[in-house]
Amino acid sequence: MTAKIIDGKEIAARIRTEIAADTAALVKQHGIVPGLVTILVGENPASQSYVSAKGKAAKELGFHSVQETVPAAIAEGDLLALVDRYNRDDSIHGILVQLPLPKHVNEEKVLLAIRPDKDVDAFHPVNVGKLVIGNPDFLPCTPAGIQELLVRSGAKLEGAEVVVVGRSNIVGKPIANMLLQKGKGANATVTICHTRTRDTAFHARRADVLIVAAGVPNAVTGDMVKEGAFVIDVGVNRVGTTASGKAKLVGDVDFEGASKRAAAITPVPGGVGPMTITMLMRNTLRAAQLRIRS
Ligand code: GUN
Repeated sequence: MTAKIIDGKEIAARIRTEIAADTAALVKQHGIVPGLVTILVGENPASQSYVSAKGKAAKELGFHSVQETVPAAIAEGDLLALVDRYNRDDSIHGILVQLPLPKHVNEEKVLLAIRPDKDVDAFHPVNVGKLVIGNPDFLPCTPAGIQELLVRSGAKLEGAEVVVVGRSNIVGKPIANMLLQKGKGANATVTICHTRTRDTAFHARRADVLIVAAGVPNAVTGDMVKEGAFVIDVGVNRVGTTASGKAKLVGDVDFEGASKRAAAITPVPGGVGPMTITMLMRNTLRAAQLRIRS
């Protein structure tokens, strides 16, 4: 079998068209323009590129987009004060503090400072809790993108064996939680593998849907993929440089090997990546829409 390539760029573009239409309706009917502020601390090149892509996507959709860049040496109190300024700014519906933060800043404290109804990353414990009990206002962006890719490319999730490799708070834990909920695009039997799992290959080989967010190139090789599985590669690993001098990106899955056995697979780049930013835009729109009723 040669796998179908799940085109994240194409699916993300389609969803952005839906978001643009809903944004136009919100502006026309309620005079509300969705507003997003991104806060970048320091000069991490990967973070800089993510934040600039987020700002660009927001502008393209006609959102009010603010990009704050502050020095890596910023005092924790000053960062908390900046977050609070946007908590109180009515033109801003979504606040995103790009992670990771410098060592001297307590990440948990900063995430706790964001108003839950402006927490478009869905990292605040209130939003994490709402997700776990099956009543979320916002879905975390990368997991939401993964679920959309699966549903829109025809994966059967009801009763499926889903194996997630990686237990991060940003991807592994929330996607596992989302797919085990009752409801459409979920109802799966979910296993999470991590660095202390005795035999990840054993679990991976029985997965109808294999989601890999390990942060390690080749964490999953072709022999670990079940014939006919859907494989979602969340990895973004910068290895060496291409001929043009840019960083070369690879995922966590051996794409060649896995493609021979999977029914469908996401490429890196061009799979999960474009979806994450699109889901952030959808959350920002949703935060603005929630304002209508309050
Ligand atoms: N760093 C890596 N991924 C993310 C993300 O989804 N949101 C934020 N805020 N920081 C990140």
